[in-house]
Amino acid sequence: MGKGTGFGKVILFGEHFVVQGVPGIVSAIDLAAHAEAKKTGEGITIKDERRGAKGYTEKKRTQQKESIERMLEIMGIDLEKASLEIRLGGNLPSFSGIGASAASSVAIARAIAEELEMDLSDQRINEIAYEAEKAYAGTPSGIDNTAATYGGLIWFKKNLSGGPNTIERLSIMGPVEIVIGNTGVVADTRKMVASVAERKKHEPEKYNPLFNQAESLAFEARKALEDFDIKKVGRLMNENHRLLQQIEVSSKELDYLINLALDHGAFGAKLTGGGGGGCMIALTPRKELQNAVANAMEKEGFEVLRTKIGVQKL
Ligand code: PMV
Repeated sequence: MGKGTGFGKVILFGEHFVVQGVPGIVSAIDLAAHAEAKKTGEGITIKDERRGAKGYTEKKRTQQKESIERMLEIMGIDLEKASLEIRLGGNLPSFSGIGASAASSVAIARAIAEELEMDLSDQRINEIAYEAEKAYAGTPSGIDNTAATYGGLIWFKKNLSGGPNTIERLSIMGPVEIVIGNTGVVADTRKMVASVAERKKHEPEKYNPLFNQAESLAFEARKALEDFDIKKVGRLMNENHRLLQQIEVSSKELDYLINLALDHGAFGAKLTGGGGGGCMIALTPRKELQNAVANAMEKEGFEVLRTKIGVQKL
């Protein structure tokens, strides 16, 4: 049996903007997807045992199937003849916005490669997971699969001419506690990404300045993280969320959780990932603040994850 792991992630700065070449900052979290792959004689079967997977819509399941087919194809495995039993687990729940799809793709690609004795580099695994991500995100930037493959804190810029993307590892002084709040609304990243592209095309006078602001903000945020100026990182996250509201990817549930987190002392808060539902993150250095913010959300019936950014490797 082959085994593989892929990191969960949160986008700290730049989701959506990153699809169109603006730099983004992503951090792996200390939760991961694990996969096992075993040769059988009965085609491709998927057993998804991750927390939250039961709530998957039919659409997500179709996207999951398509993603595995895309992966097998790019790995040179004949879909007709392939017979693999894939089991997905790990402690990363399949909420929208925390890279569950990319983490599972990386884990599955690694597990299949091990089972079929293919010796693949991380770079190749990342390329395979990128292909799989197209099933979920349409035209993904590649930021999710990069974080899921390499882990750590990463500065990412998509190369719009098709060349290699910029992937730089950032280091910060130490890990910082965050809270991830789940709105419980399953969002369709593919639809969200396409709708931003559509609006940008029709309203360039509104959208182009917002994309320029997102770019300056990414550079400022990189400096604040490297200086370990956590208060400033928080302020910039708030600014990033305002830009995301203006490109219309937030929702009333996300804004509600963000305000709740800020009211309870979070240094900053924003949606993370595709938006339209899914998850938000709050920057909550130290356990006490993390618990205060997380408890406030739980009291209102929302699911939360207490985790950290800046963890180097699991
Ligand atoms: O919702 P998630 O975790 O798949 O994140 C998507 C991030 C986007 O920037 C919206 C899309 C992308 O491919 O970068």
